[in-house]
Amino acid sequence: EHAAPILVASNRGPVSYKRREDGSLAAGRGGGGLVSGLSAIGTGAGALWVCSALGEGDREAVRRTGGRLDPADTGGMSVRMLDIAPEVFTAAYNGIANSVLWFVHHLLYQTPLEPDFDADFRAQWAAYEAYNAAFADALAEEAAPGAAVLVQDYHLTLVPGLLRERRPDLRVGHFSHTPWAPPDYFRMLPDDVAEQVLRGVLGSDRAAFLTRRWAEAFAACCADVLGAEIVRGDGPDGALSVRFEGRTTRLGVHGLGADAAFLRERAHRADVEERMAALREQIGPDRKTIVRVDRTELSKNIVRGLRAYRRLLEDRPQWRGKVVHVAFAYPSRQDLAVYRDYTAEVERVAQEINSTFGTADWLPVVLHVKDDFARSLAAYRLADVALVNPIRDGMNLVAKEVPVVSDRGCVLVLSREAGAFAELGEDAITVNPFDVEATARALHEGLLMEPAERAERTERLASAATALPPARWFLDQLRALEG
Ligand code: G6P
Repeated sequence: EHAAPILVASNRGPVSYKRREDGSLAAGRGGGGLVSGLSAIGTGAGALWVCSALGEGDREAVRRTGGRLDPADTGGMSVRMLDIAPEVFTAAYNGIANSVLWFVHHLLYQTPLEPDFDADFRAQWAAYEAYNAAFADALAEEAAPGAAVLVQDYHLTLVPGLLRERRPDLRVGHFSHTPWAPPDYFRMLPDDVAEQVLRGVLGSDRAAFLTRRWAEAFAACCADVLGAEIVRGDGPDGALSVRFEGRTTRLGVHGLGADAAFLRERAHRADVEERMAALREQIGPDRKTIVRVDRTELSKNIVRGLRAYRRLLEDRPQWRGKVVHVAFAYPSRQDLAVYRDYTAEVERVAQEINSTFGTADWLPVVLHVKDDFARSLAAYRLADVALVNPIRDGMNLVAKEVPVVSDRGCVLVLSREAGAFAELGEDAITVNPFDVEATARALHEGLLMEPAERAERTERLASAATALPPARWFLDQLRALEG
């Protein structure tokens, strides 16, 4: 107790457990940019990672270990997993974090019908408060005097404020891995909730984001909802801070990049080679490959991506039989009906394309929904074109991973609404993610790009993508908090 000099807090921890048939627990790594970034904390920094149990396997692990996970499972990192009452966790995680805050920041509501803030919402909001308080209590208990605490993401927006009340000696940072909603959209939240979220984040000394665009949106919400003052340094990239009720919170930008050394080594292991061989077989010789890899996530825009591919085959018949669209997805948030429905729609549209255009020796879409990172790396290496077309995305690490491991150079078709656009836009073919026809054109252009240009662009993309590898991304945040 009161011993950790550096703490990280996030809903999802570095590992999650599943119970095997024989009663033992299997530790696995979850998807998403947050875990990819934070897993680089390593063991050297003396950091303690506080996270939540996500399911029954995790709760069992907490019961068996008292909450300090076995370092053999975490790659040596110190991890404390909190066992928050399942009904509180579920209401906070599925109800508020993933259904409300995620939807607000990614502009996902179909506003004539939703959101609908009623009594259920209020009960879930109370759970979100309790869940945030449980994190604040654990952090207050673990932190050494003057420790640095880095609180992550939309699940934990209230923690900085709550922690300041409990431990004013700590230096607290908050990092958002998502976009931040513009004020007109953010104001959809009930007024008191919108205020509480902003005050919570402003409880930190420094609030950081993946791009300047999201930091500006946060500042705009603070001005609009709270009447806070935005203080700007010189120039378009000048320091940004928010002054409110006598305190100043500095805003920062750290564009998380890909880990080149890790990816290149991992992408050449035997399990990846095996999957490449199988995939080559499935694609067939002399065919081009369009690859996408996502969580089964609404904001990733998988259905419009498939429709764009359909458009390509309809409008440019020369590609029929000559290209395969490989769409790999990690199952995600399947407790939520809208995610299950979306996943089913992705499968339906893929199936429809296959039955319309497929022939005896050509399957136009290869779709797999499965948790398999080696499979994704195999696809990255084989890709001629990578399609990354989110409606809106905090960063999107797939866009950064592909150019790093691509064997032959790969054209990146990239949504201008992804955070990664700020860093990769110049060497990608950029698209408006809602414009299916323009996306189809971009795929066509990508498939036709000359090998020399493709290779040059891939090289520049790879160097931009790895400019801020996870370990430095983390240290930069820490230094900036201390500075
Ligand atoms: C995004 C979020 C992360 C989250 C990840 C996976 O990247 O910013 O906080 O961990 O998605 O989602 P999940 O709900 O499975 O943790």
